[in-house]
Amino acid sequence: MTQPAAAPTVQQVDSKHRYEILGDGKTAGFTAYRDRDGQRVFYHTEIDDAFAGQGLASLLVQQALTDVRASGKRIVPVCPYVAKFLKKHDQFADITDPVTPEVLQWLHTVLPH
Ligand SMILES: CC(C)(COP(=O)(O)OP(=O)(O)OC[C@H]1O[C@@H](n2cnc3c(N)ncnc32)[C@H](O)[C@@H]1OP(=O)(O)O)[C@@H](O)C(=O)NCCC(=O)NCCS
Repeated sequence: MTQPAAAPTVQQVDSKHRYEILGDGKTAGFTAYRDRDGQRVFYHTEIDDAFAGQGLASLLVQQALTDVRASGKRIVPVCPYVAKFLKKHDQFADITDPVTPEVLQWLHTVLPH
């Protein structure tokens, strides 16, 4: 008898500035952020090809943004996937801030090149 696949789980790994999603016990992908002045700036989301198209990015971002709300921070969606997610899910509109040139400039200085 085959075991049912375990439900994917999301965990925050703050030392790596990311939330990771685990599928079948393996890291299937992540959404990466940096924090500034009460904002969590999401800049990249990636799901491994082996797990693509199963809604994992959506589940990951949903849980990450729910955690941002719980922590009292605000969301800045530099990552195009997070931006698209927010257009479809308006329950985070009250805690979303715009992507400004200043945020992009700041991000450029904090990310490794
Ligand atoms: C984008 C990505 C994270 C989606 O992962 P996934 O688990 O397959 O996504 P889901 O099944 O949850 O959702 C698929 C949705 O992602 C959208 N999508 C795919 N690539 C996208 C991109 N580059 N930017 C924004 N949205 C994208 C699809 O249009 C689809 O939208 P729909 O639900 O409205 O049809 C994955 O394809 C990936 O890692 N791509 C390479 C890295 C990348 O381009 N990241 C996004 C920019 S930071």
